Amino acid sequence: MMILLLFNFFRYAWSQFPTYAENTTDVLDKLLTGYRKEIRPGFGGPPLVIETDILIRSIGQISESDMDYSFQCYFRQRWTDERLQFDIRNISEVTLNNLFLENIWKPNTYFLNGQKSHQHNIPRPNLFVRIRSDGRVYLSRRLTVKAACPMKLNLYPMDRPICSLVLGSYGYTTDDIVYLWKYGNNISVEVNKDVRLAQFDLISVRSSNHTDNTVFGTFSVLKVYIYFERHLGFFVLQTYLPCSMITCLSWVSFWINRDAAPARVLLGVTTILATAGIGMTVREGLPRVSYATALDTYLNACVLYEMAAMIEYAAVNYFTKVLPVDGGVSSDEDEEEIVPLAPPDQSVRVYLYQDTSNGQSVPLSDVQPTTEAFQGTTSHRKTRNRRKKESSFSNLFFKCLTGNLKYRTKLRERGNAEAGNSASNIDVWCRYLFPGTFLVFNVSYWICYLAIL
Ligand SMILES: *[C@@H]1O[C@H](CO)[C@@H](O)[C@H](O)[C@H]1NC(C)=O
Ligand SMILES: *[C@@H]1O[C@H](CO)[C@@H](O)[C@H](O)[C@H]1NC(C)=O
Ligand SMILES: *[C@@H]1O[C@H](CO)[C@@H](O)[C@H](O)[C@H]1NC(C)=O
Ligand SMILES: *[C@@H]1O[C@H](CO)[C@@H](O)[C@H](O)[C@H]1NC(C)=O
Repeated sequence: MMILLLFNFFRYAWSQFPTYAENTTDVLDKLLTGYRKEIRPGFGGPPLVIETDILIRSIGQISESDMDYSFQCYFRQRWTDERLQFDIRNISEVTLNNLFLENIWKPNTYFLNGQKSHQHNIPRPNLFVRIRSDGRVYLSRRLTVKAACPMKLNLYPMDRPICSLVLGSYGYTTDDIVYLWKYGNNISVEVNKDVRLAQFDLISVRSSNHTDNTVFGTFSVLKVYIYFERHLGFFVLQTYLPCSMITCLSWVSFWINRDAAPARVLLGVTTILATAGIGMTVREGLPRVSYATALDTYLNACVLYEMAAMIEYAAVNYFTKVLPVDGGVSSDEDEEEIVPLAPPDQSVRVYLYQDTSNGQSVPLSDVQPTTEAFQGTTSHRKTRNRRKKESSFSNLFFKCLTGNLKYRTKLRERGNAEAGNSASNIDVWCRYLFPGTFLVFNVSYWICYLAIL
């Protein structure tokens, strides 16, 4: 009995001093009586202006294979609904949660190029609505937007993807709703300064307002363009550098004796396989486009160079084995054929004389060489002259190579038949041709692709 009395007293006292909450509740109840949330504010009048702005909190993955991207943002819309005007002393604005939102009219904004966007609902729907006493409504939602981002990959990985977001009303034409950026074009989409992307730099964000003419009417749309630039570092370190190094490795073959077929063939095949392996891993995340990306161009050029190195060896091998019999193209081969023809002891002596006399006439009375040995010496003199010419072609950078040739010539002069074949002319020329053209290719490749941007 006592308790009941006390309770009634408190209830009475409470009702004598209405709180803000009670007044607000009353106000809200009054607001919503007779409110038709199906009808837009200012129905029949001029179009309702919806001011929008977006704060991008983070940018997720930009996927080349799916041609889309995602970001998390606060999506804010403001409009005026005269039916929601209220008057509470000392209160100019009330902030309400999602339950209130269900009872009022909201614009049916959607993302025209959106794919799998969602609003965050954990632990409660991440949104609020703020109503000002003059009927201004401010609606903010936290969304993860996934939108299509068609990319042209011709310049990949030197491309600069531009991802867009288009938003508009699903149904209301410009007669009913007009979208505008809250703070004006270009500045209404803000990106958090902490946004960091592993593979991209954010260059700029632009926003603009448009009207879309369709068969169903004219719609007001807002567009956001986010400009990215891909980091090249990863590709330089993981693809370009290894590939060019492997290509350089394939040229080692030109310095290997042409008799060492297993060594040279293995080197060629290994370099091609290694480049193909790199190409496969690097193309894993890419869609199967029908055109060549910049990366494809480079990788294919590397494979071409490695193939050419192998074909070069095939040519060297072919001329070594077949031509000496006819005696033609390469005089190296003549010499190879002649040296074994001379009787071993005599030819050795002749060569020794030649060595000591340093190009002077050879006293042959002691030795009495055979005609075959004579032929050997004359042809050898020719070869030496040619070698000198070759060494004059070579620059300082390749001094060691010419040194190597001289050493080999000397070996032959001492009659060491086991020293093997001399370097083929084709090999000698390719030592300059391959690195030279590869350098030219590299320079033009980088100038071309970096200048196009
Ligand atoms: C609540 O509203 C009544 C009139 O509707 C007013 O007299 C009273 O002062 C209001 N209370 C507060 C706390 O604003
Ligand atoms: C209402 O506002 C007036 C002036 O702005 C202030 O003096 C008064 O204390 C406020 N009342 C309450 C209950 O906050
Ligand atoms: C937005 O930026 C673009 C590109 O810089 C420019 O052409 C346009 O005039 C800018 N718009 C406004 C309103 O500043
Ligand atoms: C874009 O917005 C401006 C005001 O910011 C407005 O004057 C202009 O008419 C709008 N353009 C379109 C195409 O709606």
